[in-house]
Amino acid sequence: MTDPKLTVVVSSEKIQTRIRELGAQISADYPTGDLYFICILKGACFFLTDLARAMKRDVSLDFMGISTYGKEKSSSGEVRVTKDLDISIEGSNVIIVEDIVDSGVTLNYLMHVLDQRKPRSIRIAALLDKPERRLRPVHVHYAGFQIEDRFVVGYGLDHAEKYRNLDDVCALDPE
Ligand code: PRP
Repeated sequence: MTDPKLTVVVSSEKIQTRIRELGAQISADYPTGDLYFICILKGACFFLTDLARAMKRDVSLDFMGISTYGKEKSSSGEVRVTKDLDISIEGSNVIIVEDIVDSGVTLNYLMHVLDQRKPRSIRIAALLDKPERRLRPVHVHYAGFQIEDRFVVGYGLDHAEKYRNLDDVCALDPE
């Protein structure tokens, strides 16, 4: 897809190479026992499917939907669950799989929600991290790439529901 408004920030090749590394690292960190990947809809679905296939061991999958009340209000922390898990995570090893950590409001909230369900352990895997945007503390245990503060689309990330299916992560220039 050629679009003059798009500039590649992380290429498909770099994404796939990094995901293979992360898959090997997570597999080594969890050699035995059950392991759940929880995908935060919708943006993380591409990362989830590639990361799960990069694993050297069995992994179970579940999905969660989260809604924030407008990005400009995100510092208010108004977050709610729109689709909950199908499974109980009590006593399980859990990895939350996200496409991007921006203000940290979503994941900070989610860690509190899921912690109350008494998982054995819980960590975060995020393909992209914008640390300079952080408003709430979030520890990203498995980070793909740290990027600067530009509006990015592709590989799951959207602008008004467009561009999710790009192979690359691209900066979207304002029109
Ligand atoms: C994005 C992303 C995270 C959240 C990160 O989701 O997938 O869930 O924003 O932002 P934060 O760190 O500032 O909370 P979005 O609300 O765009 O939904 P989508 O994945 O369905 O596009």
